Amino acid sequence: MQIVKEINRIGVFTSGGDSPGMNAAIRAVVRTALYKNKQVTGIYHGYQGMMDGDFIPMESRSVSNIIQLGGTILKTARCLPFRTVEGRAQAYKNLVEAGIDGLVAIGGDGTFTGAEIFSREYDIPVVCIPGTIDNDLYGTDYTLGYDTATNTVIEAIDKIRDTAASHDRLFFIEVMGRDSGCIALNAGIAGGAEAILLPEKATAIDDLIQHLSKGARQQKSSSIVIVAEGDHNGGAYNVAKRVKEKFSHYDAKVSILGHLQRGGSPSSFDRVLASRMGYAAVNQLIAGNTRIMIGMRGNEICTTPLEEAINNKEYKLSEDMLEIAEVLSL
Ligand code: F6P
Repeated sequence: MQIVKEINRIGVFTSGGDSPGMNAAIRAVVRTALYKNKQVTGIYHGYQGMMDGDFIPMESRSVSNIIQLGGTILKTARCLPFRTVEGRAQAYKNLVEAGIDGLVAIGGDGTFTGAEIFSREYDIPVVCIPGTIDNDLYGTDYTLGYDTATNTVIEAIDKIRDTAASHDRLFFIEVMGRDSGCIALNAGIAGGAEAILLPEKATAIDDLIQHLSKGARQQKSSSIVIVAEGDHNGGAYNVAKRVKEKFSHYDAKVSILGHLQRGGSPSSFDRVLASRMGYAAVNQLIAGNTRIMIGMRGNEICTTPLEEAINNKEYKLSEDMLEIAEVLSL
């Protein structure tokens, strides 16, 4: 029989790169916990705030009017000192003093790694929610913020296409995704890109030039190439430089979308996903489950052991999608 340690006060925090939908998740965690007669404390700046004791008690009104906001009201940080034994000891001391006996962590794989180590070291229950625009986590079809970021990129592609078409130009648009081409592929298809360069699949510059030349021969007067930041050729500037050396059919320009992809009001998809995940995280914690990540598979909420989520990579690009991108681009 599993002995369930009762949780009285849940600490919630966001960590790593922010993503749209984090606020909606905080709101869901706070309100579900209060509904279940649990107390909630917000921890500012992720693990840094845990080490500094930067805490705030949260009530239902603390999360009013935030479901539509991008960023995170609890702030976030990438915290190196938490990787030390001393840093984690200080964090645990602060949690005990604040009466926090369970944690909900919202972030990406770095956040999960910290949570896994800390939870084992101090036997403190923790449930994680995947929040990153990259959609690069194992155990879930979607991470919070990915849908919004993809829509932001599509909006940018549409605008760049207007000017590309007016000037008969070739644009290289760099999008986020260090290890994951999810944003690049999906926004590329939705934005009608002529070519998409992904971290998961090396594209030779000569092949890209051949593809663009084919388009030019078929009377394409402008073209858009999406380059994921983690592409093997070293980013949009490098790709553009190398293409220009051999292919001068178009005047070529580069646009790096950068951090604007991380901001903005979450889409309805991200708000609903965040609400479902926040609700599930609290219920899992109360039920005595720990060191798990909440995910969504085929519209069903599910859980994955943190260790598995951290140690596995999921290839989220379907061969069909790659083919669709290719077939529809000419
Ligand atoms: O992990 C999300 C992400 O936006 C990546 O796509 C990007 O490479 C990275 O964060 C940028 O991180 P930072 O904001 O710390 O520069």
